[in-house]
Amino acid sequence: MRTAIIYVSKHGTTEKAVRKIAEKLGNHEVSFFNLKTDKNPDITPFDGIILGTPVYAGTPSKRMQTFIKNHAEILTAKRIGLFVCGMELNREKQQQELENAYPLSLKEQAITKHFLGGEFIFEKMNFFERAIIKRIAKTDKSVSRIDEDGIGKFVTDFIEQK
Ligand SMILES: Cc1cc2nc3c(=O)[nH]c(=O)nc-3n(C[C@H](O)[C@H](O)[C@H](O)COP(=O)(O)O)c2cc1C
Repeated sequence: MRTAIIYVSKHGTTEKAVRKIAEKLGNHEVSFFNLKTDKNPDITPFDGIILGTPVYAGTPSKRMQTFIKNHAEILTAKRIGLFVCGMELNREKQQQELENAYPLSLKEQAITKHFLGGEFIFEKMNFFERAIIKRIAKTDKSVSRIDEDGIGKFVTDFIEQK
């Protein structure tokens, strides 16, 4: 299966998740498209499309929303996997963030969808982000909570599920 992973990443964590997904896809042919540098990738040649966006202030990336709108028709013909990266701890809110990130038709079509955790990387935050996260997380230490098991399950489902 030829798969394209299309993503957005502000501080690099979603990109890390993308690399981990690609590693686990092993011998499948994988291409990457970062929507920041590659705004309009041609997805025609791919059988599978994985979309990933971080969540900031409860909201997925605008670039991802625009990409989905502009490619709605061609996406209907693909095998779809959807994920979000975020640091929300509450399971229900995690699911809510995932639900809010993608349109209903794409979620219904998706083979698999997951909340895959995230990271706070203080060195990469601007002044305002640092202040917000310090207040919410009550720490100024960087922390990683990428869900490795979730990534494993996401990839297995994406490959195997009918
Ligand atoms: C200012 C700020 C706001 C954030 N808001 C949320 C949020 O509402 N929900 C959430 O789950 N994670 C939130 N996060 C955590 C990010 O989603 C997390 O850091 C993610 O790993 C970022 O991915 P990226 O490095 O690919 O941009 C926030 C992080 C920052 C810095």
